[in-house]
Amino acid sequence: MAILLPGGAGYIGSHTAIELLNAGKKIIIIDNFSNSKPEIIEKIKQITGKNLKFYELDYLNKDGLEKVFEENKIDAVINFAGYKAVGESVQEPLKYYHNNVAGAVTLLETMAKYNVKNFVFSSSATVYGNPEIIPITEECKTGGTTNPYGTTKLFIEQILQDLYKSDNSWNICILRYFNPVGAHESGLIGEEPNGVPNNLMPYIVRVAKGELKELSVFGNDYNTQDGTGVRDYIHVVDLAKGHVNAIQKLEKEKSGIYIYNLGTGKGYSVLDMVKAFEKATGRKVPYKIAPRRAGDIPTCYADPKKAKQELNWQATKTLEDMCMDSWNYINQN
Ligand code: UD1
Repeated sequence: MAILLPGGAGYIGSHTAIELLNAGKKIIIIDNFSNSKPEIIEKIKQITGKNLKFYELDYLNKDGLEKVFEENKIDAVINFAGYKAVGESVQEPLKYYHNNVAGAVTLLETMAKYNVKNFVFSSSATVYGNPEIIPITEECKTGGTTNPYGTTKLFIEQILQDLYKSDNSWNICILRYFNPVGAHESGLIGEEPNGVPNNLMPYIVRVAKGELKELSVFGNDYNTQDGTGVRDYIHVVDLAKGHVNAIQKLEKEKSGIYIYNLGTGKGYSVLDMVKAFEKATGRKVPYKIAPRRAGDIPTCYADPKKAKQELNWQATKTLEDMCMDSWNYINQN
């Protein structure tokens, strides 16, 4: 029996593929390389010394998807095939609703047709909008997303709730990621945003390398310890391991719908990140204070207790690991 990973060549998908292979699972990746490269598949094999099956396929291609289910014995699906650029989603909302929401529905329809009902969904802390309590527990109210990307995550969570209500033989795990950063310790795979990065860590790395002049710190008048935004940064390998535990949970439970925050439980400000990066790498990160960025919230970090209790998972990598691995990756590539 194999686990199918749509979008498995992407940033979080590829790191998860490695952890699943290391845990002895068989995997099948489908990817259309819209935001990744064919060489990632070879690198996954190189890092793990294990084989995997790969199809170059858009997960919205229903016939192609059915062929994958015909040709393989699939036990579970982890869906990584989503667009994730917040700014682009504001410019091109239909592209996001089509790929993320219609894609997820196509995938779920195909799973139902082949009676595969174990599903892990990559959601995001963005579904909490401006969170009503900090640290954020899974019971915290969702909604009030500030961009179409976030809204696609919220909609898909709702679709999964409705699906489970209609047929409670589904076995679903929703993982709400906080801010994934870092790269595999081998330096072979990591995050490569196209063009000028929007997210903090990829931007810091490019400034440290001298490719960008300085970091703009978006606002220093928030109600936080130093006035800059506070987030829960989590090493992508810790996050990837959370998916292995989620699969083990589904194997144990047989049916249900479960939701977990995947974060460290620690909040760091933008200036904390700059300092931590400089200390870990010995590189300077020049910055200037800039106006607040539209749609940003002051503080967002997880209460990760539920994942610890029910998934037996917790993040173990340090902020130093996150900085060093992000830096090593960019230097090797
Ligand atoms: C954003 C998205 C989140 C998505 C995540 C992907 C929202 C509101 N947030 O999170 O849904 O899952 O990206 O990783 O939709 N910052 C600067 N200068 C920069 C870049 C960022 O000061 O050049 C600050 C931001 O203001 C924020 C913090 O750094 O306080 C983190 O920003 P970022 O890495 O973009 O992540 P989020 O906005 O938290």
